[in-house]
Amino acid sequence: MTRGFFIAGTDTCVGKTCVSLGLMRALQAQGYAVVGMKPVASGCHAAANGLENDDALRLQQCSSLSVNYTQVNPYAFEPAIAPHLAARINGTNIQVPVIGKNFRELSEGADYIVVEGTGGWLVPINAEQTMQDVALDLGLPVVLVVAIRMGCLNHTLLTAAAIHQSGLRLAGWVANHIDPQCGHLHELVTSLDERLPAALLAEICFARDNGAVEKQAGRMDLAPLLQAS
Ligand SMILES: Nc1ncnc2c1ncn2[C@@H]1O[C@H](COP(=O)(O)OP(=O)(O)O)[C@@H](O)[C@H]1O
Ligand SMILES: [Mg+2]
Repeated sequence: MTRGFFIAGTDTCVGKTCVSLGLMRALQAQGYAVVGMKPVASGCHAAANGLENDDALRLQQCSSLSVNYTQVNPYAFEPAIAPHLAARINGTNIQVPVIGKNFRELSEGADYIVVEGTGGWLVPINAEQTMQDVALDLGLPVVLVVAIRMGCLNHTLLTAAAIHQSGLRLAGWVANHIDPQCGHLHELVTSLDERLPAALLAEICFARDNGAVEKQAGRMDLAPLLQAS
């Protein structure tokens, strides 16, 4: 059976893609076959075979197996807005079972699947459901990426509480130093580490390019994740 992780964030643009790619490479370095998935993406551009999203393309390219774009990213929308709004503009209803079907097909032959969420934990995907429902349907342990900046204590503790209430397991978290202006970084990370019920897998320093961020993410502590999966 394929094991995997759902990569959630405290918000959009917090480093979920960089951490997903780093985790995929870290697992690959241990000899595992890993595939990436981005079930729902807004902010897509037109390509030869339809709409494509940069996050999904990077996850597809990083996959150990040859995987179809539409399996990696079954729901792709052009406007860079919340998924339920992008889907409504497109006349589409995002269906969790469709994501589940693609997830199972994509997982075939892989040891691990890394699924990147969209936005934050409770971002709506349709009139009734949120990204939490996608994570619940896939049933994967969750890795929470935290942008260390003003407001992160509240955002992180609220997200961790919601993950706990959902019944899913928070397997670990990553402290991402995304804001070079933010002070008291050490105290913020320590305050979270004291309160979160999961291991701190990596602390990622501010870096000027994506490659350097992904490289740091790739050095995360895999042990708690391998145990949780
Ligand atoms: N540690 C960091 N230092 C500097 N820039 C970062 C860091 N982590 C992420 N970024 C940048 O922030 C942006 C959002 O990162 P990304 O991984 O795409 O976030 P998400 O997937 O949550 O939207 C990207 O441009 C990325 O290069
Ligand atoms: Mg992303």
